[in-house]
Amino acid sequence: MMNRPCLILFGPPGSGKGTQAKLLRQSLGVAHISTGDMLRERASSGDQLGLELARIMQSGSLVPDEMVNLMVADRIEQPDCAGGFILDGFPRTVDQARLLGGLLEAKAIEPLVIHLKVDYNVIIARLSGRRQCPSCGALYGVSSNALKASELTASEVCVSDGSKLVIRDDDREEVVRERLKAYERQTTPVLEYLRNAGYTCWDVEGASRAPQVIAREIEQLVRQKYSKAVSTGELKKA
Ligand code: AP5
Repeated sequence: MMNRPCLILFGPPGSGKGTQAKLLRQSLGVAHISTGDMLRERASSGDQLGLELARIMQSGSLVPDEMVNLMVADRIEQPDCAGGFILDGFPRTVDQARLLGGLLEAKAIEPLVIHLKVDYNVIIARLSGRRQCPSCGALYGVSSNALKASELTASEVCVSDGSKLVIRDDDREEVVRERLKAYERQTTPVLEYLRNAGYTCWDVEGASRAPQVIAREIEQLVRQKYSKAVSTGELKKA
């Protein structure tokens, strides 16, 4: 049976997980699951749970495992995940990794873990310059080389659909520092857990190269790992 691709993009806040997921979902033709995007959408509902989620996320802490686990377990059952999926921002705790392990085992899915390595000083600079299109989700880096300066107009509008770009609530420097602390404390042990579980894990340098160059390297690792899916045409050709 073909092992459907499951790519776990692992790394600190601002390491480029979302940027890579957006590039790779197109070239690989798989679904993109971002727990951050799903939680932000839920938070924007304005009901009691939404307000509580917004409060947690704006403080830089992690949302409780039970909620995130339920959300992901449900999401990977959706039809668009049948051809494989990219996990962006999950798992982030050892409990989440345990749950994921069980879900993948039940489906005979072998994941590939990509650890994006980026220095924290680079991250703080990047996140203070991050802008996002509220309509299509495109990411921009006003003080980074993620986007050529010429592609971002002075009024900061999306090059694809003209929407005014926005700054995420949790990208203020003091919140970024809290998010990095949560990453150190709760998420770094997950990498060890994933390695010990026997999953293929690769470190990928994510600080000094253009997103497209990094995506090409990851794509090669994916195709290497899931070569059978590639040879049978089940993974979209780039
Ligand atoms: P989430 O939305 O997942 O945020 P994060 O993991 O903190 O990561 P970011 O989205 O900030 O960064 P990224 O790695 O995706 O980088 P990006 O591509 O945007 O989570 C937000 C919150 O939700 C959490 O704090 C938590 O409260 C909650 N949450 C989410 N998942 C959870 C879970 N599983 N459990 C519990 N709680 C959870 O890039 C960043 C910037 O850098 C951009 O401006 C981009 O243009 C630029 N850039 C990207 N690549 C490059 C490059 N190669 N060179 C230069 N610039 C680059």
